[in-house]
Amino acid sequence: MWNALVTGGAGFLGSHLSRLLLDQGHSVVVLDDLSTGSFTNLPDHPRLTKVKGDVARGWEGKVDRIYHLACPASPPKYQIDPVKTLDTNYQGTRNMLELALRSGARLLLTSTSEIYGDPQVSPQAETYWGNVNTFGPRSCYDEGKRVAESLCYAYSRYRQADVRVARIFNTYGPFMAPDDGRVVTNFISQALEGKPITIYGSGNQTRSLCYVDDLIRGLNLLMESTSPPVDAPVNLGNPNEMTIRQIAELVLELTGSNSPLIECPLPQDDPKQRCPDISRAYEWLGWRPMVSARDGIKRTCDYFEGALRLS
Ligand SMILES: NC(=O)c1ccc[n+]([C@@H]2O[C@H](COP(=O)([O-])OP(=O)(O)OC[C@H]3O[C@@H](n4cnc5c(N)ncnc54)[C@H](O)[C@@H]3O)[C@@H](O)[C@H]2O)c1
Repeated sequence: MWNALVTGGAGFLGSHLSRLLLDQGHSVVVLDDLSTGSFTNLPDHPRLTKVKGDVARGWEGKVDRIYHLACPASPPKYQIDPVKTLDTNYQGTRNMLELALRSGARLLLTSTSEIYGDPQVSPQAETYWGNVNTFGPRSCYDEGKRVAESLCYAYSRYRQADVRVARIFNTYGPFMAPDDGRVVTNFISQALEGKPITIYGSGNQTRSLCYVDDLIRGLNLLMESTSPPVDAPVNLGNPNEMTIRQIAELVLELTGSNSPLIECPLPQDDPKQRCPDISRAYEWLGWRPMVSARDGIKRTCDYFEGALRLS
C-alpha cells in the first residue's frame, strides 16, 4: 500500500482520485490551497489527511506517489491571477519534483490538451507540438503547463526523477464547481435554472468530453504502469467529438429544460477543435473510455440537480 500525496486533491479531479486511492487501500494526504477546491468535496476517512497549503511554497513529508494536480483548470479562474497560475505551475511543480527526489517517490503531472493550443491538426497525437499564443489571456495556463512538462523531463533526464505526464482533455462529472465556467457546467447550471444557454460563437466548434471515472482510471493506470517504459506524455480523453451545439442540445434533452440557446462572441484564443488521439494510451496502458456522453452527462445532471436542491 502507498502513501500518496494528491496536490489539488480538494478540486474536481483530485477529489475523485483521492476516493479511488482510499478505496484501493492507500493512505492519502491532500495538499490544497482551496483557491478553487473545497475540503467538503472529500470524505472524512481515517487514512485521509487534509492539509491547507500552496504547492509553490512546498511541503515536507515522506510519500511514495505524488499525483500533482494543483492548478486551477477553468479559464475564468486561472485568469484571475495569471502570475499565481504561472508560479503554481513552475515553482509548484519544481517543489513537487524535489519532494519526489527526496522521498524516492514517483510523480504524475496532470498536464492538459491546452498545451496543443489552437491545433492545426486533428486529432492531436502526443507527437504534435502545438500552436500556442505565448502572450494571450490563456498563456499563463498553456505555457505554465508546457514548462511544467519540461521540468518533469529535465528532472527525469538529468536527475533521474521517476515521472509520468498525462495530457488531459476536457473532463466532466459530479463535484465540478457549478460556477467554474467550463462548457458542461455552464450548460447544465443554465438548463436547470431555466436560464438561456450561452453558446460562444456559432457553436460549430467541437469538444470531446471524457467522463471523470474513465479519466481517473487512466491516471491510476499511468501512475502504476512500468511495462512498456512510460517515458513520454500520454493523452487521456474521449475521442468522441461533438459540436458545442450538440452538447447543449443533449443537456436540454436530459434535463427536460426549455431554456433557449443564445449565441455570444467567441472568447480570444478559444480552440476551434479538440480531439485526442488516444492510440498511445491504448497501446501502453490498455486504456480507453467506457462511458458514453449520454450516460456521463445524465449522471452529471443528476448530481447538479441534487446539489442545487441542497443550496
Ligand atoms: N478537468 C479537466 O477537464 C482538465 C483538463 C485538463 C487538465 N486538467 C488538470 O487537472 C488538474 C485538476 O483539474 P480540476 O478540473 O480538478 O480543477 P479544479 O480547479 O477543480 O482543481 C484544482 C485544485 O487545485 C487547487 N490549487 C490550485 N492552485 C494551488 C496551489 N498553488 N497550491 C495548492 N493547491 C492549489 C485548487 O484549490 C483546486 O482544489 C489541473 O492540474 C488541471 O490543469 C483538468
